[in-house]
Amino acid sequence: MGQKHRIYITRKIDEQFLVPLADIADISMWESKSEPVPREILIEKAQEVDALFTVLSDKIDEEVLAAGPSLKIVANLAVGFDNIDLTAAKKHDVIVTNTPDVLSETTADLTWALLMATARRIVEASDYLRAGKWQDWSPFLLAGTDVYQKKIGIVGMGRIGSAVAKRAKGFDMDIMYHNRSRNQAAEEAYGAAYVSFDELIETADYIVSLVPLTNETAEIFNEAAFAKMKSSAIFVNVSRGAVVDETALYNALKNKTIAAAGLDVFAKEPLPLDHPFLKLDNAVLIPHIGSASIETRTTMIELCLQNIANVLTGKEALTEVKG
Ligand code: GLV
Repeated sequence: MGQKHRIYITRKIDEQFLVPLADIADISMWESKSEPVPREILIEKAQEVDALFTVLSDKIDEEVLAAGPSLKIVANLAVGFDNIDLTAAKKHDVIVTNTPDVLSETTADLTWALLMATARRIVEASDYLRAGKWQDWSPFLLAGTDVYQKKIGIVGMGRIGSAVAKRAKGFDMDIMYHNRSRNQAAEEAYGAAYVSFDELIETADYIVSLVPLTNETAEIFNEAAFAKMKSSAIFVNVSRGAVVDETALYNALKNKTIAAAGLDVFAKEPLPLDHPFLKLDNAVLIPHIGSASIETRTTMIELCLQNIANVLTGKEALTEVKG
């Protein structure tokens, strides 16, 4: 047998995941659980290895992709791949893979958890109790907004959007969506109506962003968009922070242009502790945990490693991102 392949994993994962690849590869990883891999180490590793296993906060640009002659695959532990320069990957003959499908239901669950937590003020209510403020029961104490039978507008009706629509049907909601192309399957299965972006934001009670970040979607939720929403609207973002103009969203929440927001993603992550969003009572903020269930993260890791094993042994990747 020839020389073993080399793989670098940019975060610490349990050694048990590596067992199936032990015969074909020497695997090393960034060992810290609290600090991201420093850029210079990422570049140094990219120079040496055949495969990189990356996460969504690793910027995989021309510099990384051009670094080493043997790099064949970047396997990204996410469905989104806006952290990777696909043009540079193509230029350097590097295959890029992501983790679609396996995380759709889990991310839809989280979208619902966030939507419901925002509508029913769950985090605020929990903080209230823990702070010893619960002295009495009163009719409108921490009263939120109903979800059932309201209008939900899903921006980005792909696999996760469809899974969110499936759940919305159970809440007897009026479902609208906007997408680059029509999604006939979601229309038939969930009665989702295709509408323009403007109609969606003007009429929905719940506006849920699940669009991938591209040049076309950057800051689509801007000052003009928030101004068009109902003052009772609740905005939920589980896609990428950069689809939102955060200053405009902050102003819309502070001035009650819209009622509330549930945010899993931010333009800059981790969200700095001095970010103005942290001053708002009507924002539920969580640290990019859309697909974070133990089952799904396990499956995602296995899928990344399988993609790597396939490419290194001359087979086709299971989930290649075609640029
Ligand atoms: C998470 O944000 C993902 O893209 O999988």
